[in-house]
Amino acid sequence: MNRSLSQRTPHSLLDDPKAHQKLEVNYRKNKEQDHTPKIDDAVRRFDFDACKDAWWNPESFSLLHGTPLWDEASPTERLRLNQLYWVAYYSQIVSAEIATILLNQTCAAGMYSIEDFRVVCDGLDLESAQERAHINAFKTIGEKVEEKLFGERVFTYPMRSMYVETMIFQNSNKVKEFWRNIQLRAATMLTSGNAFLGCQYFAIRGLRTLNGKMIQQALAQPYLKAPDKAASPVPAQVSYFHFMDESFHFNTSRLLSHDVLGCLPQPGPFERFVANRAVDGCQKDHYHFSVAVKGIFWYDPALFHAVYRVLRSKVFGMDHAEAREMIRRCFTEESDGLHEAHRIHETAVQSYRVYAEPLGYLNAKNKSMSRMAESTIEGYLRDTRRAFARFEANA
Ligand SMILES: [Fe+2]
Ligand SMILES: [Fe+2]
Repeated sequence: MNRSLSQRTPHSLLDDPKAHQKLEVNYRKNKEQDHTPKIDDAVRRFDFDACKDAWWNPESFSLLHGTPLWDEASPTERLRLNQLYWVAYYSQIVSAEIATILLNQTCAAGMYSIEDFRVVCDGLDLESAQERAHINAFKTIGEKVEEKLFGERVFTYPMRSMYVETMIFQNSNKVKEFWRNIQLRAATMLTSGNAFLGCQYFAIRGLRTLNGKMIQQALAQPYLKAPDKAASPVPAQVSYFHFMDESFHFNTSRLLSHDVLGCLPQPGPFERFVANRAVDGCQKDHYHFSVAVKGIFWYDPALFHAVYRVLRSKVFGMDHAEAREMIRRCFTEESDGLHEAHRIHETAVQSYRVYAEPLGYLNAKNKSMSRMAESTIEGYLRDTRRAFARFEANA
């Protein structure tokens, strides 16, 4: 920073040359390796019939894997469950990335008020452009699969703004939705005018993507291990290309929330309050775990109708009573799938704790992720049994 001329704040990103350099390298490498042209090309090549006989994910990443539906499924039905996991999982990622695009921009605006933050903002511009390509890929492929298999939407949805729910199957109602909408609008305004809160969003983004990184690393494996990569199913290619772009995004989150915060004015009580509310909101969003789509924190009772439609479709061809009974067995009884979903959730809690540890402005509840840690198998079964009784009464 030019010290001979007056500045609005004494802070500059160049005060920490190491952090500045790390951000510069991360941005340059992301630009060089940008996978969006490959993703766009893969989407153009996607043809469901050409890859309908292939596994798109490792076997355990299949819809309702480890439940009675999986155990009793035919080889073709298992393939469909594997492919539907891809559709459902990335439908959630679309929702998360719609929010990321807007928050990248509002937070960049907040941080741009500090000297020498251009490299951060340029990097976020690139990431937002990449997210648009990712969304297009997940949405286009997901919609084509659902059109072929069901002739209607099950997990996908029309394009929407981030003010609609971020978690697409969750425990919500009109009042909660309204309140959330207000909170999100307030968050965008606050982050766009406050460098600390703009930067702190990347702690949230980092936390929210920690678990995604773990799952997406697994989803990238079929392509990585394929002897003939060009011949691997297009959705598996997209999983790999996406994982490569996202590894840079994760680095950005980590650098901004852990390294760069020291270059900014220290947070006051209001900023600490807002930051802690945001992390608590993340814990709330990630409280549940889903037996249907492991590694996603959906509220399974909100998913009963979607799964019912899958079971009634030509893929499974069940009648009403069979579908209802299968939902009861899969969601209200203990299974290997349920234990695996809970284990992944516990791993997420552990990794969130490690990530939150160096963030001095967080309170003890947020550092220990105590709200998330209260999510248990017993609680899951209590919720799903209660919800199933209502579902059964209305079905
Ligand atoms: Fe993405
Ligand atoms: Fe991303």
